[in-house]
Amino acid sequence: MYPLFRRFLFRLDPEVAHQLTIQALRLAGNFPLSNWFLRRLYTVPLKPVQAFGLTFKNPVGLAAGYDKDAVAINGLATLGFGHVEVGTVTLKTQPGNPKPRVFRLVEDEAVINRMGFPGKGAEFASKQLSAIRNKVISEQSSVVIGVNLGKNKDTPLEEAASDYIALMRRFMPYADYLAINISSPNTVGLRRLQGREMLEGLLGEIEQERRTSNVKRPVLVKIAPDLTDEELDDAVGVILDKGMDGVIATNTTLARKGLRSRHQGESGGLSGSPLKVRSEAVLSRVVKLVNGKVPVISAGGIMNPDDAKKRLALGASLVQVYTGLIYAGPALVKRIVASL
Ligand code: FNR
Repeated sequence: MYPLFRRFLFRLDPEVAHQLTIQALRLAGNFPLSNWFLRRLYTVPLKPVQAFGLTFKNPVGLAAGYDKDAVAINGLATLGFGHVEVGTVTLKTQPGNPKPRVFRLVEDEAVINRMGFPGKGAEFASKQLSAIRNKVISEQSSVVIGVNLGKNKDTPLEEAASDYIALMRRFMPYADYLAINISSPNTVGLRRLQGREMLEGLLGEIEQERRTSNVKRPVLVKIAPDLTDEELDDAVGVILDKGMDGVIATNTTLARKGLRSRHQGESGGLSGSPLKVRSEAVLSRVVKLVNGKVPVISAGGIMNPDDAKKRLALGASLVQVYTGLIYAGPALVKRIVASL
């Protein structure tokens, strides 16, 4: 059925198509009958994974950026995900970059986005999470919920830690894990936080906050695919030194190689098939660097079950998809889990 649906969606502006889909999932997830129907349709076998002290019912998750304001978790959970990472959430509401800011590169099975963290902010998202929290938890097939955190555009880089810490305080009670996003290419300067000195400062403050906080949650760091080997070694070194619980590799790339689509010249982060090779390489290096000390989540160009299997074979504990869903449809989750 998805090819038909996709033909309709691909006629729409990508962001409009996304809004429609997410509202449909929000509605379908919140009504018992449609929720039940979708669950039946997308039932996946149990393939439990333990990571960061959490149990995931399977290793396939939804990457950040899809449900930025945490409005459709119940609907997304019906599709069989083992975890859903909501966000990126910023402290204050912000509009993001001017539209159009999302482009489909159909010939390349890719997307370029320069959203710039549009969202309703932490207060809104935390209300959504608190409202659905008990309901989701009480269901047997509960989904692990991660919250991906980012700094506001107008927060100076030097003060980024205060945004992240305020966000941690806000979301600790509702999130199963937190992801520190310092790798989005669409917030000016953000990725500089991955440099050794800035990262030591930021994660040092986060470590301190965790030590003094009553609620303990795993904290992961999401990294870019565009770091050099040396930068990657530095970043992972700091992540381990500061006692973080895991790494998510990778975010979108600024690289543009071998693309065919007419949208290839758009600025922003590239995701989907063209990111595959680089994300695999980064995953392999990160797995080697962490040497079993913390789990690694792999994202970037996972478009089919074989891609996911390869990431797990390379040492990822979990995988995340986003662009693959746009091209293959929601049954991708079921297909991947069934193939494992
Ligand atoms: C993203 N991604 C993303 N990542 C993140 O940490 N915070 C975010 O807000 C977003 N927003 C976002 C919007 C759109 C439209 C896309 C396509 C992607 C990146 C995403 O989580 C993932 O890391 C990459 O897209 C790579 O995975 P795929 O898409 O190749 O499976």
